[in-house]
Amino acid sequence: MHLTIPTISPDATPAEILRAGIESAGGPVSLACSFSQEDVAIIDIAHGARLALGVFALDTGRLNEETYEVADALVERYKLAIDWYFPHHDEIEKLERSEGLFSFRESRDKRHACCRIRKVEPLARALAGLAGWVTGMRREQSVTRSDLKAIEPDSLNGGILKINPLIDWSEEQLISYTKEKRLPKNRLYNQGYRSIGCAPCTRAVQPGEDARAGRWWWENPEHKECGLHRR
Ligand code: ADX
Ligand code: SF4
Repeated sequence: MHLTIPTISPDATPAEILRAGIESAGGPVSLACSFSQEDVAIIDIAHGARLALGVFALDTGRLNEETYEVADALVERYKLAIDWYFPHHDEIEKLERSEGLFSFRESRDKRHACCRIRKVEPLARALAGLAGWVTGMRREQSVTRSDLKAIEPDSLNGGILKINPLIDWSEEQLISYTKEKRLPKNRLYNQGYRSIGCAPCTRAVQPGEDARAGRWWWENPEHKECGLHRR
């Protein structure tokens, strides 16, 4: 498939980035939704701009109850149809029977093995058949994301388009958008969480700490990716 990457001006709004990405993809495009403030804002922006954007979510089996509450609120507010993807049950059974329930704390390899089964493999199924996918990643989130592009080819996932409409938003912009539009918000943010993934691998951060310091807090910042966003 020949992929056209549209030129995005540095002052393009998230709605403009989304529209350009969806038009260039030339086929179905979906948001990978973790129910973060970022992803909720993208759903609201796409809804306001009447863009055709699907929504899928990877239920790792280890998400917080508060995260499911956000999903439910979105279904209610936007009449959203969420395509849920689960890990293969046989792989989870094998993992938990042989390694126990918290093997991801034992080594980086074991952590990646868990993320591979619970997130990366289901992601591959979610992306099959899509011409593009949208994420809530922002440049300022971490050292691993500072060189993101608004729209880039995702060669590791079949050469489809990867669209990051909030790439240049700061956390402050996101918080004020969420407030202004009264968007559904994960209650964990009020308890000091600033980035939310699986329950056992996420905790609140202290003032002055990095936004992603509560993710896999036992690992170094440059290793804090789960494999969803390999480039
Ligand atoms: S992660 O790779 O470290 O887990 P992060 O939580 O920062 O990622 O989320 C970045 C983006 O990845 C989200 O905005 C969303 O697009 C996608 N994402 C992360 N987790 C999931 C999930 N469980 N289901 C669907 N998309 C997800
Ligand atoms: Fe497993 Fe933790 Fe990765 Fe979730 S974030 S898939 S629980 S290692």
